[in-house]
Amino acid sequence: MAKRILIAALLLMPVQVMAAAGGSGFMLHAGNDVGNKASLQRGARNYVNYCLGCHSLQYVRYNQVAKDLGIAESDLEDTLMWTAEKPQEVIEIAMPDGDAARWFGRTPPDLSLTSRSRGTDWIYSYLKAFYVDPTTMFGYNNLVLENAAMPHVLWSLEGDKAAIFEDTVDQDGVSHTEFKGFEQLTEGKLSEAEYDEFVIDLVNFLDYVGEPVQLQRQSLGIKVIAYLLVFLLLAMALKKEFWKDVD
Ligand code: HEC
Repeated sequence: MAKRILIAALLLMPVQVMAAAGGSGFMLHAGNDVGNKASLQRGARNYVNYCLGCHSLQYVRYNQVAKDLGIAESDLEDTLMWTAEKPQEVIEIAMPDGDAARWFGRTPPDLSLTSRSRGTDWIYSYLKAFYVDPTTMFGYNNLVLENAAMPHVLWSLEGDKAAIFEDTVDQDGVSHTEFKGFEQLTEGKLSEAEYDEFVIDLVNFLDYVGEPVQLQRQSLGIKVIAYLLVFLLLAMALKKEFWKDVD
């Protein structure tokens, strides 16, 4: 019996962990387009300006980004390469690891593969889910990653939001805290639509970084379809030619 209870408890565990992680149920759809080069370029710039202080991209090299995104190597040095000297270097942070762990209590993770592990919707929602919470170290909390050790680094762009929660008791007498929506407290430098675009560009860039080859795959896909279309036309012309005499 004890064994059965143990097994049941083990089976339930992941569910509990998941419920705790995404307790608010707040999840938005990113809808980014990794084929949009202008968006990827803006995303790369946003990343270097606002995220590279803490998060490295250890599987990506600057010159690879430049090539894939159509950025000239001369522009690369002025706009993106703040933490490297040579374009073939990977994208590292300037801050030593130990310092970050000391300041935030947790080392900011490398984000090379986050679009794959978490998904683009998750990152998009996370960056739109910071709200004012004076009980935390940095004065902000996050609906998607509760008690995140990351400060709301984009607050000056988005402005401050409060999250509205409501306590409800269900028919079994269990109380739940339900997220009801955000209330804008102060204006940021960007409008809501502009902030949205800013975040989508960032997510798009991280989507590309998670799987750089998808850009080549897309252009290869177009070539294959073009080839097939030409072949189809040829085949149709041939068929007409063959059947001309039969009809
Ligand atoms: C001041 C340092 C700092 C900056 C700047 C920063 N972050 Fe973070 N970030 C962190 C820390 C610390 C964590 C770990 C949070 C935790 O696990 O509680 C984190 C976590 C994350 C995560 C979750 C990763 C995961 O899988 O758990 C994502 C995504 C993320 N950051 C994206 C960004 C983006 C995008 C930017 C730029 C707009 C950014 N961060 C800027 C410190 C920072």
